[in-house]
Amino acid sequence: MKVFITREIPESGLKKLRNAGIEIVEWKEKRELTQTELIEYCKQCDALIAAGYNNMDAHFLDECRHLKVIALHSVGYDNVDIAEADRLKIPVGNTPGVLSGPTADIAFLLMLAVSRKAFYLHQKILNGDWKFFEPTANLGIQLYDKTIGIYGLGNIGFEMAKRCAGAFNMKVIYHNRHRNLPAEEELKAVYVSFDELLERSDVLSVHTNLTKETQGKFNKGVFEKMKPTSIFINTARGAIHNEQDLINALQNGTIWGAGLDVTNPEPMRKDNPLLTMPNAAVLPHIGSATVETRDEMANIATENVIAALNGKRIPFPVNPEVYD
Ligand code: DGY
Repeated sequence: MKVFITREIPESGLKKLRNAGIEIVEWKEKRELTQTELIEYCKQCDALIAAGYNNMDAHFLDECRHLKVIALHSVGYDNVDIAEADRLKIPVGNTPGVLSGPTADIAFLLMLAVSRKAFYLHQKILNGDWKFFEPTANLGIQLYDKTIGIYGLGNIGFEMAKRCAGAFNMKVIYHNRHRNLPAEEELKAVYVSFDELLERSDVLSVHTNLTKETQGKFNKGVFEKMKPTSIFINTARGAIHNEQDLINALQNGTIWGAGLDVTNPEPMRKDNPLLTMPNAAVLPHIGSATVETRDEMANIATENVIAALNGKRIPFPVNPEVYD
Protein backbone atom coordinates (compact mmCIF):
# COMPACT_ATOMS: atom_id res chain seq x y z
CA MET A 1 0.00 0.00 0.00
CA LYS A 2 1.25 3.48 -0.86
CA VAL A 3 0.41 6.94 0.42
CA PHE A 4 1.19 10.20 -1.35
CA ILE A 5 2.03 13.15 0.90
CA THR A 6 1.87 16.65 -0.60
CA ARG A 7 4.24 18.40 1.84
CA GLU A 8 6.86 17.45 4.37
CA ILE A 9 5.06 16.42 7.58
CA PRO A 10 6.55 15.67 11.03
CA GLU A 11 8.65 12.52 11.37
CA SER A 12 6.32 11.10 14.06
CA GLY A 13 3.64 10.63 11.41
CA LEU A 14 6.00 9.18 8.82
CA LYS A 15 7.31 6.69 11.37
CA LYS A 16 3.79 5.43 12.09
CA LEU A 17 3.20 4.87 8.39
CA ARG A 18 6.50 2.99 7.99
CA ASN A 19 5.74 0.85 11.03
CA ALA A 20 2.40 -0.01 9.47
CA GLY A 21 4.23 -1.19 6.34
CA ILE A 22 2.92 1.63 4.18
CA GLU A 23 5.16 2.97 1.45
CA ILE A 24 5.53 6.76 1.40
CA VAL A 25 5.77 8.92 -1.69
CA GLU A 26 6.55 12.53 -0.72
CA TRP A 27 6.42 15.77 -2.69
CA LYS A 28 9.51 17.65 -1.56
CA GLU A 29 9.58 20.68 -3.83
CA LYS A 30 8.82 23.98 -2.12
CA ARG A 31 5.99 24.86 -4.45
CA GLU A 32 2.35 23.90 -4.69
CA LEU A 33 1.67 20.89 -6.91
CA THR A 34 -0.50 21.59 -9.92
CA GLN A 35 -3.73 19.62 -10.01
CA THR A 36 -2.40 17.56 -12.94
CA GLU A 37 0.69 16.62 -10.94
CA LEU A 38 -1.41 15.80 -7.89
CA ILE A 39 -3.66 13.50 -9.93
CA GLU A 40 -0.62 11.82 -11.48
CA TYR A 41 0.93 11.04 -8.08
CA CYS A 42 -2.39 9.97 -6.56
CA LYS A 43 -2.97 7.55 -9.41
CA GLN A 44 0.12 5.63 -8.28
CA CYS A 45 -1.03 5.51 -4.65
CA ASP A 46 -3.86 4.17 -2.50
CA ALA A 47 -4.21 7.07 -0.08
CA LEU A 48 -3.43 10.76 0.10
CA ILE A 49 -2.24 12.99 2.93
CA ALA A 50 -2.93 16.55 1.78
CA ALA A 51 -0.97 19.07 3.77
CA GLY A 52 -1.53 22.17 1.68
CA TYR A 53 -4.43 23.87 0.01
CA ASN A 54 -4.72 21.85 -3.19
CA ASN A 55 -8.08 22.22 -4.82
CA MET A 56 -9.75 18.82 -4.59
CA ASP A 57 -12.75 19.56 -6.75
CA ALA A 58 -15.10 17.24 -8.61
CA HIS A 59 -12.60 16.75 -11.44
CA PHE A 60 -9.81 15.74 -9.06
CA LEU A 61 -12.08 13.40 -7.10
CA ASP A 62 -13.43 11.83 -10.22
CA GLU A 63 -9.90 11.12 -11.49
CA CYS A 64 -8.85 9.79 -8.08
CA ARG A 65 -11.95 7.83 -7.12
CA HIS A 66 -9.70 4.84 -6.33
CA LEU A 67 -8.30 6.61 -3.23
CA LYS A 68 -9.18 4.76 -0.04
CA VAL A 69 -8.91 7.98 1.96
CA ILE A 70 -8.04 11.65 1.66
CA ALA A 71 -6.43 12.51 4.99
CA LEU A 72 -6.15 16.26 5.40
CA HIS A 73 -3.32 17.58 7.52
CA SER A 74 -5.63 20.41 8.65
CA VAL A 75 -8.90 20.97 10.41
CA GLY A 76 -10.27 23.05 7.51
CA TYR A 77 -11.69 21.12 4.56
CA ASP A 78 -12.98 23.96 2.38
CA ASN A 79 -10.62 22.86 -0.42
CA VAL A 80 -12.42 19.51 -0.86
CA ASP A 81 -15.75 19.04 -2.64
CA ILE A 82 -17.29 16.98 0.15
CA ALA A 83 -20.57 16.36 -1.69
CA GLU A 84 -18.62 14.79 -4.55
CA ALA A 85 -16.44 12.78 -2.13
CA ASP A 86 -19.69 11.50 -0.59
CA ARG A 87 -21.04 10.54 -3.97
CA LEU A 88 -17.84 8.63 -4.78
CA LYS A 89 -17.73 7.16 -1.25
CA ILE A 90 -14.25 8.52 -0.53
CA PRO A 91 -13.71 9.11 3.19
CA VAL A 92 -12.14 12.48 3.96
CA GLY A 93 -10.41 12.92 7.32
CA ASN A 94 -9.26 16.06 9.12
CA THR A 95 -7.44 16.89 12.37
CA PRO A 96 -10.03 18.33 14.75
CA GLY A 97 -9.45 19.49 18.32
CA VAL A 98 -5.69 19.57 18.50
CA LEU A 99 -5.23 23.01 16.98
CA SER A 100 -8.02 24.87 18.78
CA GLY A 101 -5.85 26.24 21.60
CA PRO A 102 -2.84 27.21 19.46
CA THR A 103 -5.02 28.92 16.85
CA ALA A 104 -6.86 30.84 19.56
CA ASP A 105 -3.44 31.84 20.93
CA ILE A 106 -2.65 33.45 17.58
CA ALA A 107 -6.02 35.26 17.47
CA PHE A 108 -5.33 36.55 21.00
CA LEU A 109 -1.77 37.53 20.09
CA LEU A 110 -3.02 39.47 17.06
CA MET A 111 -5.70 41.23 19.11
CA LEU A 112 -3.15 42.39 21.65
CA ALA A 113 -0.56 43.27 19.00
CA VAL A 114 -3.07 45.39 17.09
CA SER A 115 -4.44 47.09 20.19
CA ARG A 116 -0.89 48.22 21.12
CA LYS A 117 0.41 48.65 17.54
CA ALA A 118 3.17 46.19 18.37
CA PHE A 119 4.19 45.01 14.90
CA TYR A 120 4.25 48.57 13.55
CA LEU A 121 6.30 49.89 16.47
CA HIS A 122 8.76 47.03 16.13
CA GLN A 123 9.16 48.04 12.50
CA LYS A 124 9.75 51.65 13.59
CA ILE A 125 12.68 50.57 15.75
CA LEU A 126 14.11 48.57 12.84
CA ASN A 127 13.83 51.70 10.69
CA GLY A 128 15.81 53.75 13.25
CA ASP A 129 12.72 55.81 14.16
CA TRP A 130 12.84 55.36 17.95
CA LYS A 131 14.07 58.88 18.67
CA PHE A 132 12.73 60.13 21.97
CA PHE A 133 9.85 59.60 24.39
CA GLU A 134 6.62 61.40 23.56
CA PRO A 135 3.68 61.05 25.98
CA THR A 136 1.14 61.40 23.19
CA ALA A 137 2.81 59.10 20.66
CA ASN A 138 2.48 55.35 20.05
CA LEU A 139 -0.82 55.12 21.88
CA GLY A 140 -2.85 51.96 21.67
CA ILE A 141 -6.22 51.08 23.16
CA GLN A 142 -7.00 48.95 26.21
CA LEU A 143 -8.98 45.75 26.13
CA TYR A 144 -10.11 45.55 29.78
CA ASP A 145 -13.88 45.11 30.15
CA LYS A 146 -14.47 45.52 26.43
CA THR A 147 -16.67 43.23 24.31
CA ILE A 148 -15.29 40.39 22.24
CA GLY A 149 -17.58 39.28 19.42
CA ILE A 150 -16.99 35.78 18.10
CA TYR A 151 -18.21 34.96 14.61
CA GLY A 152 -18.39 31.15 14.62
CA LEU A 153 -18.29 29.89 18.20
CA GLY A 154 -16.94 26.35 17.72
CA ASN A 155 -13.86 24.90 19.40
CA ILE A 156 -11.43 27.63 18.32
CA GLY A 157 -13.90 30.46 18.96
CA PHE A 158 -14.56 29.02 22.41
CA GLU A 159 -10.82 29.01 23.22
CA MET A 160 -10.48 32.62 22.02
CA ALA A 161 -13.49 33.72 24.10
CA LYS A 162 -12.06 31.94 27.14
CA ARG A 163 -8.75 33.77 26.79
CA CYS A 164 -10.44 37.16 26.35
CA ALA A 165 -12.78 36.68 29.31
CA GLY A 166 -9.97 35.37 31.54
CA ALA A 167 -7.26 37.87 30.66
CA PHE A 168 -9.24 41.08 30.16
CA ASN A 169 -12.64 40.39 31.69
CA MET A 170 -14.13 40.92 28.26
CA LYS A 171 -17.85 40.33 27.73
CA VAL A 172 -18.47 37.59 25.17
CA ILE A 173 -21.10 37.88 22.46
CA TYR A 174 -21.31 35.54 19.49
CA HIS A 175 -23.10 34.73 16.29
CA ASN A 176 -23.36 31.17 15.05
CA ARG A 177 -25.60 28.91 13.05
CA HIS A 178 -26.49 27.20 16.34
CA ARG A 179 -26.50 28.33 19.96
CA ASN A 180 -23.46 27.17 21.96
CA LEU A 181 -24.93 26.34 25.35
CA PRO A 182 -21.66 25.26 27.06
CA ALA A 183 -20.16 28.66 26.10
CA GLU A 184 -23.25 30.45 27.36
CA GLU A 185 -22.95 28.61 30.65
CA GLU A 186 -19.18 28.66 31.14
CA LEU A 187 -18.30 32.05 29.66
CA LYS A 188 -21.64 33.84 29.99
CA ALA A 189 -21.52 34.19 26.22
CA VAL A 190 -24.58 35.89 24.75
CA TYR A 191 -26.02 34.88 21.38
CA VAL A 192 -26.75 37.90 19.16
CA SER A 193 -27.82 38.52 15.57
CA PHE A 194 -25.09 39.17 13.00
CA ASP A 195 -25.92 42.89 12.89
CA GLU A 196 -25.80 43.14 16.67
CA LEU A 197 -22.44 41.39 16.65
CA LEU A 198 -21.13 44.05 14.28
CA GLU A 199 -22.61 46.93 16.21
CA ARG A 200 -21.52 45.85 19.69
CA SER A 201 -18.11 44.19 19.28
CA ASP A 202 -14.97 46.08 20.32
CA VAL A 203 -13.01 43.17 18.91
CA LEU A 204 -14.61 40.92 16.31
CA SER A 205 -12.81 37.61 15.82
CA VAL A 206 -13.66 35.26 12.95
CA HIS A 207 -13.60 31.51 13.68
CA THR A 208 -15.99 30.07 11.14
CA ASN A 209 -15.44 27.64 8.27
CA LEU A 210 -15.12 28.97 4.75
CA THR A 211 -18.37 28.12 2.98
CA LYS A 212 -20.45 29.65 0.19
CA GLU A 213 -22.28 31.56 2.91
CA THR A 214 -19.18 32.96 4.63
CA GLN A 215 -17.08 33.69 1.53
CA GLY A 216 -16.51 37.46 1.29
CA LYS A 217 -18.84 37.98 4.26
CA PHE A 218 -16.73 40.76 5.79
CA ASN A 219 -16.98 43.43 3.11
CA LYS A 220 -17.47 47.20 2.89
CA GLY A 221 -21.11 47.13 4.01
CA VAL A 222 -20.26 44.92 6.97
CA PHE A 223 -17.22 46.96 8.08
CA GLU A 224 -19.42 50.06 7.93
CA LYS A 225 -21.71 48.55 10.56
CA MET A 226 -18.79 48.02 12.98
CA LYS A 227 -17.62 50.58 15.56
CA PRO A 228 -14.93 53.01 14.36
CA THR A 229 -12.94 51.95 17.44
CA SER A 230 -13.21 48.21 16.71
CA ILE A 231 -10.59 45.62 15.80
CA PHE A 232 -11.20 42.90 13.21
CA ILE A 233 -9.33 39.59 13.64
CA ASN A 234 -9.32 36.72 11.14
CA THR A 235 -7.48 33.46 11.85
CA ALA A 236 -9.92 31.26 9.92
CA ARG A 237 -9.68 31.68 6.13
CA GLY A 238 -8.63 34.75 4.14
CA ALA A 239 -11.50 34.43 1.69
CA ILE A 240 -13.98 35.24 4.49
CA HIS A 241 -12.98 38.92 4.29
CA ASN A 242 -12.67 41.15 1.27
CA GLU A 243 -9.09 42.36 1.58
CA GLN A 244 -9.43 45.56 -0.44
CA ASP A 245 -12.55 46.51 1.55
CA LEU A 246 -10.61 45.85 4.75
CA ILE A 247 -7.71 48.03 3.61
CA ASN A 248 -10.15 50.83 2.72
CA ALA A 249 -11.98 50.46 6.04
CA LEU A 250 -8.68 50.89 7.91
CA GLN A 251 -7.46 53.74 5.73
CA ASN A 252 -10.63 55.79 6.09
CA GLY A 253 -11.19 55.03 9.78
CA THR A 254 -14.32 52.89 9.36
CA ILE A 255 -12.74 50.47 11.85
CA TRP A 256 -9.70 50.97 14.08
CA GLY A 257 -7.49 47.95 13.50
CA ALA A 258 -7.08 44.49 12.00
CA GLY A 259 -5.08 41.36 12.75
CA LEU A 260 -4.81 38.60 10.18
CA ASP A 261 -3.26 35.14 10.26
CA VAL A 262 -4.98 34.35 6.98
CA THR A 263 -4.96 36.54 3.91
CA ASN A 264 -6.52 36.63 0.50
CA PRO A 265 -4.54 35.56 -1.46
CA GLU A 266 -1.89 33.59 0.42
CA PRO A 267 0.99 34.26 0.46
CA MET A 268 0.34 37.99 0.86
CA ARG A 269 2.31 40.23 -1.51
CA LYS A 270 5.04 42.14 0.30
CA ASP A 271 3.73 45.50 -0.97
CA ASN A 272 0.31 44.98 0.64
CA PRO A 273 -0.58 48.19 2.56
CA LEU A 274 -1.68 46.12 5.58
CA LEU A 275 1.97 45.34 6.24
CA THR A 276 2.86 48.94 6.96
CA MET A 277 -0.28 50.25 8.65
CA PRO A 278 0.10 51.27 12.31
CA ASN A 279 -3.03 49.40 13.42
CA ALA A 280 -2.58 46.19 11.48
CA ALA A 281 -0.72 42.97 12.23
CA VAL A 282 -0.28 40.12 9.78
CA LEU A 283 1.13 36.63 10.28
CA PRO A 284 1.75 33.96 7.63
CA HIS A 285 -1.00 31.44 8.54
CA ILE A 286 0.69 29.98 11.62
CA GLY A 287 -2.37 29.17 13.78
CA SER A 288 -1.41 25.52 14.22
CA ALA A 289 2.33 25.99 13.87
CA THR A 290 3.71 24.62 17.12
CA VAL A 291 5.92 21.54 17.36
CA GLU A 292 3.37 19.78 19.57
CA THR A 293 0.33 20.55 17.43
CA ARG A 294 1.95 19.68 14.12
CA ASP A 295 3.06 16.34 15.63
CA GLU A 296 -0.49 15.65 16.74
CA MET A 297 -1.86 16.66 13.35
CA ALA A 298 0.58 14.29 11.62
CA ASN A 299 -0.43 11.50 14.00
CA ILE A 300 -4.13 12.00 13.37
CA ALA A 301 -3.68 12.19 9.59
CA THR A 302 -1.64 8.99 9.60
CA GLU A 303 -4.17 7.23 11.86
CA ASN A 304 -6.81 8.08 9.27
CA VAL A 305 -4.65 6.57 6.53
CA ILE A 306 -3.72 3.42 8.45
CA ALA A 307 -7.35 2.73 9.33
CA ALA A 308 -8.55 3.20 5.77
CA LEU A 309 -5.80 1.05 4.29
CA ASN A 310 -6.74 -1.69 6.73
CA GLY A 311 -10.33 -1.56 5.55
CA LYS A 312 -11.54 0.17 8.73
CA ARG A 313 -13.63 3.28 9.37
CA ILE A 314 -11.31 6.27 9.74
CA PRO A 315 -11.27 7.72 13.27
CA PHE A 316 -11.64 11.40 12.27
CA PRO A 317 -14.01 11.61 9.30
CA VAL A 318 -15.34 14.88 7.91
CA ASN A 319 -17.96 12.91 5.95
CA PRO A 320 -19.05 9.98 8.18
CA GLU A 321 -22.03 9.62 5.84
CA VAL A 322 -19.81 7.63 3.44
CA TYR A 323 -20.10 4.74 5.88
CA ASP A 324 -23.92 4.73 5.90
C1 DGY B 1 -6.22 24.27 9.38
O1 DGY B 1 -5.90 23.23 9.97
O2 DGY B 1 -7.23 24.34 8.69
C2 DGY B 1 -5.32 25.44 9.56
O3 DGY B 1 -5.71 26.51 8.80
C3 DGY B 1 -3.89 25.06 9.26
O4 DGY B 1 -3.76 24.71 7.94
